[in-house]
Amino acid sequence: MIFSETLIKWYVLHQRALPWRNTNNVYFIWVSEIILQQTRVEQGLSYYYKFIERFPDIFSLANVKEEEVLKLWQGLGYYTRARNMHSAAKQIVEIYNGEIPSSYEQILKIKGIGKYTAAAILSFGYNLPYPVVDGNVKRVISRFFAIEKDISLPETERIIYKKLNEIFDIKNPGDFNQAIMEFGALYCKPGIPDCSDCIFTKKCLAYKKNKVSEIPYNPSKTKISQRFFYYIIPIYNGSTYLVKREKKDVWKNMFEFPLIELKEAISVKKLLDTEEFKTLIEKKSFTFISNSNEVVHKLSHQHIHAQFISLEIKNELENHNFIKVTPTEFPKYPVSRLIEKYLMDEKSMGYEKKKE
Ligand code: ADE
Repeated sequence: MIFSETLIKWYVLHQRALPWRNTNNVYFIWVSEIILQQTRVEQGLSYYYKFIERFPDIFSLANVKEEEVLKLWQGLGYYTRARNMHSAAKQIVEIYNGEIPSSYEQILKIKGIGKYTAAAILSFGYNLPYPVVDGNVKRVISRFFAIEKDISLPETERIIYKKLNEIFDIKNPGDFNQAIMEFGALYCKPGIPDCSDCIFTKKCLAYKKNKVSEIPYNPSKTKISQRFFYYIIPIYNGSTYLVKREKKDVWKNMFEFPLIELKEAISVKKLLDTEEFKTLIEKKSFTFISNSNEVVHKLSHQHIHAQFISLEIKNELENHNFIKVTPTEFPKYPVSRLIEKYLMDEKSMGYEKKKE
């Protein structure tokens, strides 16, 4: 039996029932693929339902403010996806009357759509013959053909595309793509999978060579940077301040407390003596209330060591970038999971407690 037949037969029996697999709505397929780019299916599902309920078509998405999209995305991470989707929706409405293009060249020009997403949308939405290559597919192909080269290199990706094209099913591109990704996600897993009754034991070269656990080979594990965030929570008359993150960095266009970022850890006592701190509170007098423990917030390429320091100030801050908010107004603002957790943790709400 040829590769595709074996694979699709397995898929028909073992696939998970997922909502974006039972639809021809290309907009829904697009939404699901963006959500699933850096998110596991189990986590993405509830966001997918929320998203298509709030924005049932591309026009409803194009017509809202970015802040509303970010608010809905809150907690899912990789917020560039949400900002790009929102711009893309506007782009598709303006140029293509709201219809997601079915041409590979055109769809690749849309914000947030790269090679993988283009192939996914075109094959699942329009049944066009473009193979998808994500982490799961790379693992299945590199094992099946025993490709031992560094998986992170562009040259290895070219080999993977070439091999994939040899076994690709141009008559059933959508099913083939879903099936190979599902096989990678559920069966041909990272690390040491259980190959004992795999459908490909007779053909998988990595299995024959006893190299399954060594492939894909990835010597260049990404280095994780350490960042130190000191959030200052100046409390004035029961209100505090939020700032929009404007720079090209994590959590762009989301809100947080005024921040001092340092290259290394420092004691709170020393922090309150730095020029940055004095500038931040505009050299106003303050009373220290409390500081939280250090929280380490882990993202894929960086670990953020955060502390929250609350102070009482006697005079309002004048910085135009600061937005004065009361605790009841917080839910209006899109914030990172880090800030959200802080706000949810009643113990950390020092100043609220003090008022009791
Ligand atoms: N990951 C990315 N796209 C997917 C899909 N369509 N189904 C399941 N997992 C996925």
